[in-house]
Amino acid sequence: MTRLALLVPGGRGQLGSDLAALADRVGLLHAPGSAELDVTDVGAVDDAVSSFALAARDAGLKPVLVNASAHTAVDAAEGEPERAYAINATGAGQLAKAAVANGVPMLHVSTDYVFPGDGTRPYEPGDPTGPKSVYGKSKLAGEQEVLGAGEQTWVIRTAWVYGATGGNFVKTMARLEGQRETLSVVDDQRGSPTWSADLAAGLLELASAVVGDNAPSQRVLHGTNAGKPLCWESVTVF
Ligand SMILES: NC(=O)c1ccc[n+]([C@@H]2O[C@H](COP(=O)([O-])OP(=O)(O)OC[C@H]3O[C@@H](n4cnc5c(N)ncnc54)[C@H](OP(=O)(O)O)[C@@H]3O)[C@@H](O)[C@H]2O)c1
Repeated sequence: MTRLALLVPGGRGQLGSDLAALADRVGLLHAPGSAELDVTDVGAVDDAVSSFALAARDAGLKPVLVNASAHTAVDAAEGEPERAYAINATGAGQLAKAAVANGVPMLHVSTDYVFPGDGTRPYEPGDPTGPKSVYGKSKLAGEQEVLGAGEQTWVIRTAWVYGATGGNFVKTMARLEGQRETLSVVDDQRGSPTWSADLAAGLLELASAVVGDNAPSQRVLHGTNAGKPLCWESVTVF
């Protein structure tokens, strides 16, 4: 595997923590949380990306930025759209601009929420988008910012992420199981729960590919567990 350096904004989240845990598989890994790198701070983003690129190249490593930062509180985003857009759209776009300016390929993680969710089969990358929530709209705007920043940027849509760090549906169910006799849960949604450590490992493979000879020509990819360790074919959510 090519010797990589990874910069992972959002490094304290579910996915970010699992990416940070891959440090021994790369030459350099910097996974700042929001207190260390706030993606809404343009100057801080520019400084962080340029100093990371310099440190990587000084060490003879190929730098890649993997954006794991996001405003992921779907319900809260409805009441604070400015903040959701600042992080998910403008912040992602600023990271992409800085990455492109420094010749650093970028992998940007996005979501099934860019789709309307009323399909009858798993979504494919080229399917029409149509987000219904502020979260989904802000993430779609982020995709457009990232893809528009340059050609060495990729969007990876995933779904129903659960990991060892942070809160998620699986942990909530496990906790409530010990507290309640019965549970009410929506039964009109289908999706592919995706273990964030698998997603992190897949993103590492993709990072190797984009700095080598195997960069995918398609710049929007779907990756979920979908019954196998990681599937890059479709987001199994409809
Ligand atoms: N969770 C899901 O079910 C799911 C499904 C599909 C797609 N995704 C996407 O997958 C990616 C990772 O999600 P996740 O589940 O790992 O989310 P998460 O656990 O909520 O982590 C997101 C991280 O973003 C960071 N962040 C928030 N505001 C920031 C800011 N202004 N500057 C820098 N960092 C900031 C937070 O950092 P601090 O903790 O340090 O404040 C948080 O740790 C996101 O792009 C998300 O949209 C998630």
